[in-house]
Formats: sequence, C-alpha cells, structure tokens
Amino acid sequence: MVKNTGWISFKCFYDKYGHLVPVEGEQDIPFQIKRVYYIYSVDDGVRRGFHSHNKLEQALICIHGSVKILVKNPYESENILLDDPTKALYIGPMVWREMYDFSSDAVLLVLASGHYDVGDYVRDYSKYEKAALNYFKRGENEGNEHTVCNF
Ligand code: TYD
Repeated sequence: MVKNTGWISFKCFYDKYGHLVPVEGEQDIPFQIKRVYYIYSVDDGVRRGFHSHNKLEQALICIHGSVKILVKNPYESENILLDDPTKALYIGPMVWREMYDFSSDAVLLVLASGHYDVGDYVRDYSKYEKAALNYFKRGENEGNEHTVCNF
C-alpha cells in the first residue's frame, strides 16, 4: 500500500438481531479519536478531498454503500474501494487523497486524531508535491507506516 496508509479490520458481532461493530480509539485504531465526521448524499460524479494533512491521522469507514479513495504521494498511488463496514482505511500524514464514485446510499464515516484545523491542510498540489518529495525521501514516515495492524 501507499506509505502512511493501511487497512484496519474490526470485529463484527452478528446474530439474529443484526450486526454490531465496536471501534475503540487507541485500541482498534492507532490514535485517540478527537473528531468524527461523516459524508453522505454525495451526487453522482462528485469528486472531493484534494488535500493532504501535515499531521492529522484519519480512519475512513464506509458504513453503508461504497466509495473509492485515491491515495497518493509523488512516488506511488492507489485507488481503493471501500465497501465493507468492518474495515477502515488508515490515512496518516502527508498523503494526498481524493474521494469519488460515492454510491447514492454511501455513508463515509471519518475518525480523526485532531480537531478541525485549517492550518493542517495542504490543498495546493504543487506545494504538496514539493513537501512530500522531501518528506518521503527523508523517511520521516517510518514511524507511521507500522502503526496500523491487520493489513
Ligand atoms: P472539505 O474539507 O471541503 O471537505 P472534503 O475535503 O471532504 O471535500 O469540508 C467541507 C466543509 O466542511 C468546509 O466548509 C469545512 C467544513 N468542515 C468542518 O467545519 N469541520 C470538519 O471537521 C470538516 C472535515 C469540514
């Protein structure tokens, strides 16, 4: 997978009453959850995201429907299908992401390690590319690369 990304699998409890998936900060995901947001009712053809974060870590769970995520850095990229509510895509610092092909019933839940901070965003791709060329070359990502289990 692209550096600073990975899969996380959750336990799913199911019986005749339905399915239940618990997600605990610092246990099931490798950070303390400080913020939760969700994206839904995204129109056909919409593509969003187009940014990276300097420090923020996130776990993306498509709890209903499906969505595709492009994750990339200047050296590698991957298109990932999220369609399983028992799996999260971990995205650490300095990973460019775009979200697209939302099914009409998609609900994308995002768990974040920090509060909303506009200063942590990099939205200009050429600025991102310059910073990421350095970041990944210097191997500063190594700590994060291994923080995620089950991928
Ligand atoms: P935006 O960052 O543009 O979403 P995406 O990158 O997924 O396309 O966010 C849309 C709006 O929501 C924008 O006005 C900022 C606001 N917002 C918050 O107020 N808090 C949050 O935690 C997030 C993620 C967005």
